[in-house]
Amino acid sequence: MIKIAPSILSADFANLERDIGRISTADYVHVDVMDGMFVPNITIGIPVVRCIRPTTTLPLDVHLMIVKPARYVEEFCDAGADIVTVHVESDTPEGIQSAIDKIHAKGKRAGIVLKPATPAQAAEPFLEQVEMVLVMTVEPGFGGQKFMADQMDKVRTLREWIDQRNPGCELEVDGGVDPETCKVCIEAGANVLVAGSAVYKAADIPARIAQLRG
Ligand code: DX5
Ligand code: ZN
Repeated sequence: MIKIAPSILSADFANLERDIGRISTADYVHVDVMDGMFVPNITIGIPVVRCIRPTTTLPLDVHLMIVKPARYVEEFCDAGADIVTVHVESDTPEGIQSAIDKIHAKGKRAGIVLKPATPAQAAEPFLEQVEMVLVMTVEPGFGGQKFMADQMDKVRTLREWIDQRNPGCELEVDGGVDPETCKVCIEAGANVLVAGSAVYKAADIPARIAQLRG
């Protein structure tokens, strides 16, 4: 079954509880955390995760676009994150390992994220340890960008490796996913689709979520 993780980056931040309620038929709530250093944008952080936690029973899928995420992963877990993903480009391999270990020590799911220019091989040292691998299909930083179909080879490669080495691991894509591009993502082997604008700009959000499942 394909899972849908609407990104609240496209929600109305003055009405987050209402807008999270509108995606209750989805599988995860995708939370984009940006620090103005790893990406050229600043969004939301730990206090917001803590405030939205009691507003939904859906798992919170927290995508950290921050430098040296090991500094903050425990606080995100304590604030209510269920899945915490960190970019492999955001620290040394030792730093990424430390972030994964801290997330697991909190009893939460850990994942790694690859930017478009980062090859699938960068996931290999962590592949057997994580519960999620996220392939960016836009440059991280902003919602509403154009889907990069050239990332599908990476998704296919990772699907093959995950099936062989860690079949319980989820394979997520993020960026530019809409009712058309969702099809190639599913065909390439992704099982979790993040969608921000495609969900929140829809007139009928539950219908759009159903449509994105392919
Ligand atoms: C981009 C974020 C995405 C973004 C997706 O850095 O990681 O989650 O919100 O938005 P859409 O679906 O509009 O491309
Ligand atoms: Zn994201």
